[in-house]
Amino acid sequence: MTLHIAEMLRAQAAEHISFHTPGHKRAGADITELSYSDNLYAPHGVILRAEEDAAKILGAARSFFLTDGSTAGVFSMIYAAKRAGAARLAVPAFSHPSVFHACAAMGVDIVPVPQAVRRGIPVPPCERDIAAALEGADALLLTSPDYYGFFAPMAAAKEMCNAAGKPLLIDGAHGAHLHFCATHAGKFADMWVDGVHKSLPAMTQGAVVSANEAWAERLAEAVRIFRTTSPSYPILASVEYAVKYPRNEAIERASEAFKRRHGCLENDDWTKIVVPFGAECAAASAYLEAHGVYPEFCDGNYLMFYLSPCTKEEELERLSSLLEELPRGEVGEDAPAGGIPIYREGL
Ligand SMILES: Cc1ncc(COP(=O)(O)O)c(C=O)c1O
Repeated sequence: MTLHIAEMLRAQAAEHISFHTPGHKRAGADITELSYSDNLYAPHGVILRAEEDAAKILGAARSFFLTDGSTAGVFSMIYAAKRAGAARLAVPAFSHPSVFHACAAMGVDIVPVPQAVRRGIPVPPCERDIAAALEGADALLLTSPDYYGFFAPMAAAKEMCNAAGKPLLIDGAHGAHLHFCATHAGKFADMWVDGVHKSLPAMTQGAVVSANEAWAERLAEAVRIFRTTSPSYPILASVEYAVKYPRNEAIERASEAFKRRHGCLENDDWTKIVVPFGAECAAASAYLEAHGVYPEFCDGNYLMFYLSPCTKEEELERLSSLLEELPRGEVGEDAPAGGIPIYREGL
């Protein structure tokens, strides 16, 4: 598949004397919006072609590249919904801070969807609680998958939202790798975010926000407000690369086998290996780091290892042999939600 942005960067003239930003005055990949490099604000060239390809891949009417993280996508979705009249948004209690910040900034009232905590982990909101919250709200925002690899009940939520004529927004900051699957946010949501820098090989801050036909125009208006006017081309190129990155079924199978072998949390998502350590959590994390192995987080109950299609099987084997050496504590049924990355209820 053609990588439009990377090829444009590669085809730059050999002589490139920079009388433009950025101030480092070196050409290379970190250029600004020039005659040949298109414009993120009003794309008509390589960026438009890359975004159109991404929309096809992600099942969207329109997709918009973000160099400001999924945060900019969350703000854009909530703004678009608000402009269409959604003054009250149903939001699960443990959503990412960007959701609460966007609602505060835009004067959107939050209708909380309760989330229980079981064995130290927030359980995805149940259908009954979603339905109850949706009654008092104009739109629903769900996170799927979450940081621990659990899916929200997206099919039921879509049905409820369709029946009520209310938009469904999905924060898929942790689910970009699912676009090959029936569990991808794009199969359910009116607008959704794919955090390609987390579970696909994009540079940090690379993300995509997408919409179906009904919401495409409003989302286009929203991203004009929340995206930078100085996008990083290395990030843009990496977003296109990540969206077009092939599936790696070997590492998906290796992850599931690893989870069974090590008694990991039984979650829905192969990119998130969650290992219970209980009271041994911090010591286990320190031990692994001393051996050059860095988890995504230690929340006081669990160590979480974040995989992507670029994870190598040898690396998983190395982790496997180190885990064999480590004592494991229990995480009790009533254990409270851990520290990072739990986003405190009702921030
Ligand atoms: C569920 C969720 N949504 C949104 C975000 C924001 O993503 P970003 O850091 O790319 O802006 C995060 C970041 O960790 C997240 O976990």
